[in-house]
Amino acid sequence: MKRWEDKSWTRSMRITLDFGGMMADAVGRRHGLTVEQIDAMSERFKVVHQNLQQRRKAGDLPFYELPYDQAALKKVLKTARRVIKECEDFVVLGIGGSTLGGIALFRALAHPQHNLLPEAKWKGLPRVFFADNIDPEGFSALLNLVNLEKTVFNVISKSGGTAETMSQFIIVRDRLIRKLGRKRHPPHIIATTDPEHGHLKALAREQGYETLSIHPGVGGRFSVLSPVGLLPAAVAGIDIAELLAGARNANRTCEKGGLWKNPAAMNAVLQVLAYTAKKKPISVMIAYSDALRDVADWYRQLWAESLGKRLDVNGRVVHVGPTPVKALGVTDQHSQLQLYMEGPFDKVITFLTVGKFRKTVKIPAGFNHIDGLSYLGGHTLNDLMQAEEQATGFALTQARRIHTGIRLPEINPFTVGQLLFLLEVQTLYAGGLLEINPLDQPGVEAGKKFTYGMMGRKGFEDRAQLIASKRQEIGSYRIMV
Ligand code: PA5
Repeated sequence: MKRWEDKSWTRSMRITLDFGGMMADAVGRRHGLTVEQIDAMSERFKVVHQNLQQRRKAGDLPFYELPYDQAALKKVLKTARRVIKECEDFVVLGIGGSTLGGIALFRALAHPQHNLLPEAKWKGLPRVFFADNIDPEGFSALLNLVNLEKTVFNVISKSGGTAETMSQFIIVRDRLIRKLGRKRHPPHIIATTDPEHGHLKALAREQGYETLSIHPGVGGRFSVLSPVGLLPAAVAGIDIAELLAGARNANRTCEKGGLWKNPAAMNAVLQVLAYTAKKKPISVMIAYSDALRDVADWYRQLWAESLGKRLDVNGRVVHVGPTPVKALGVTDQHSQLQLYMEGPFDKVITFLTVGKFRKTVKIPAGFNHIDGLSYLGGHTLNDLMQAEEQATGFALTQARRIHTGIRLPEINPFTVGQLLFLLEVQTLYAGGLLEINPLDQPGVEAGKKFTYGMMGRKGFEDRAQLIASKRQEIGSYRIMV
């Protein structure tokens, strides 16, 4: 058994928040924080924490309970077993919170080349694709690639009405019916949606599609540990029970009322202080691991949609929200780092790092006669990755740039479960500290309504008219190459 498959070993692993790089000791008082500044947030945090605990008890924050939902786990595992047995390709249709979590899990925990392995199979598992855009070229290429006879499509939409996802669904259903016939097509579609409401649920009932439920109180960006993220992960062979165990573990720590004992609270406070007291409107997450790059992408949505708000909880116009940016170490050291080191002092950087990679790759000794190359021989890519990550942190400190670090001892379902849950709770705390509602997304809804208007959906004629009249008001400013 591989060490990372040994549950008693992996369950001893804890991720760590290291925030020395945020402190005035490291970067000076102008940009860095003091213990006193952090302590001064304690009372505000307590209020936010108590409020969240009360809402949780009242059943108002159901995402907290997802790691404990054994019935959902059982159902997902059963569905995944059927999919694995029956199909060669599994295609997720969805957008935003309905796919970003699944993509993050797939990238972090499936084989890095899962879909390219010999005979398009890995231990008998299907290839897994995420159609998370409606680009006609990309979507048609994907549909032409898969064998519809051997493909299951998982259409994920909580509302069951999102134009992008439902368009994909309509196209796919039509192709399935044309290829397999009306009667044979239902087993090829699984709908993950609201348990009662929406067009997708109604259609699933009518057509006989298997369905998995998203709790009505769980928003897309907080749904990764629901069937939304769990089914694609299970189909890719990921141990989703361990993932949930990791999240439960994080929950136990993140329930603590003391700021200095609760990493989600501490990181929320650090981020909020960076944004407010230290005037850093940009929050970069740089993952030093290919496997974690889409966790940074998932987090970018979580942070942006949750914290970017026009109104505060009292209805005052505040236009608040740090801008999240994702980056990849070491690749982006050769793209972004120059700006982070010497550009404006407007960023707080989170390093997402790994203690021990699942593979070690040696750099063979050689080129002894070339000083500029010989030092590499005998090391590993792991050594190089770690040296670059630490050197970058050190250089940023020297340049008085604040940064914090979240370290996974190894990447496995248990530690990734901790990480995702920690970041979700941190986002709620940050919303509380910024006095906004982190659970709504009125800006996204507004855009959706204008799209409906432009596409001729009944009931949205006023939006279409508004766009047409505004277009006439705005002149044309164009230059052609
Ligand atoms: O996080 C969110 O709430 C959004 O990104 C939604 O997930 C996204 O708009 C898709 O919505 P739905 O699942 O209703 O199709």
